[in-house]
Amino acid sequence: MNFSDTLINWYQSNKRDLPWRNTTDAYIIWLSEIILQQTRVEQGMPYFYRFAEKYPTVTDFAAAPEDDILKLWQGLGYYSRGRNMLVTAKLVKEQHGNVFPNRYDELIKLKGIGEYTAAAISSFAANEAKAVVDGNVYRVLSRYFGINEPINSTTGKKIFQQTANDVLNKEHAGLHNQAIMEFGAMLCKPKNPACGICPVKEGCYAFMHNATTALPVKLKK
Ligand code: ADE
Repeated sequence: MNFSDTLINWYQSNKRDLPWRNTTDAYIIWLSEIILQQTRVEQGMPYFYRFAEKYPTVTDFAAAPEDDILKLWQGLGYYSRGRNMLVTAKLVKEQHGNVFPNRYDELIKLKGIGEYTAAAISSFAANEAKAVVDGNVYRVLSRYFGINEPINSTTGKKIFQQTANDVLNKEHAGLHNQAIMEFGAMLCKPKNPACGICPVKEGCYAFMHNATTALPVKLKK
């Protein structure tokens, strides 16, 4: 089995049951991804439920007064996220006929949506073959492939994006992306990774060279 298939297998037996994983609604996935941007899953979960209940569609969201959005956002921090979401929801209403886009090239044009979020939404909602690169993915790839280029250097970012594209399961891009992030969050953790039970340790550079604490490399700027 290749790297992606092994991670997907692991994921299917070990994943957490998270509410935004049971939908292909791009709006709901967008809601979850923006909330989770600078927020841990446990902290973001109740906010996700409140937003999804109060604003079940992007049309509902677009019609909300900014004060209501910001009130519901209270406690999450980085309030620009909430403001950008309202701008985006209104634009989706006006320019996309109230249908939240699910293709990468459309998503990347929207306010508050960068490469990671566009890849996440398009792969989860439409199975588009775009690889996500977030902190989990940097950690997993740097350790497995022994990449010591800093994750926050220009060259490093290119190398990691290229590697992520290379290992992406193109047929099951959404599943692959969920799997590699979940694997990074639950098993290939920043501290005390669970190498003993890791399904890919035999091919892992960091495991074989005792280098999990040294990877990934991050430049102090
Ligand atoms: N953090 C960001 N996106 C996530 C997702 N889709 N599932 C779990 N944690 C996440």
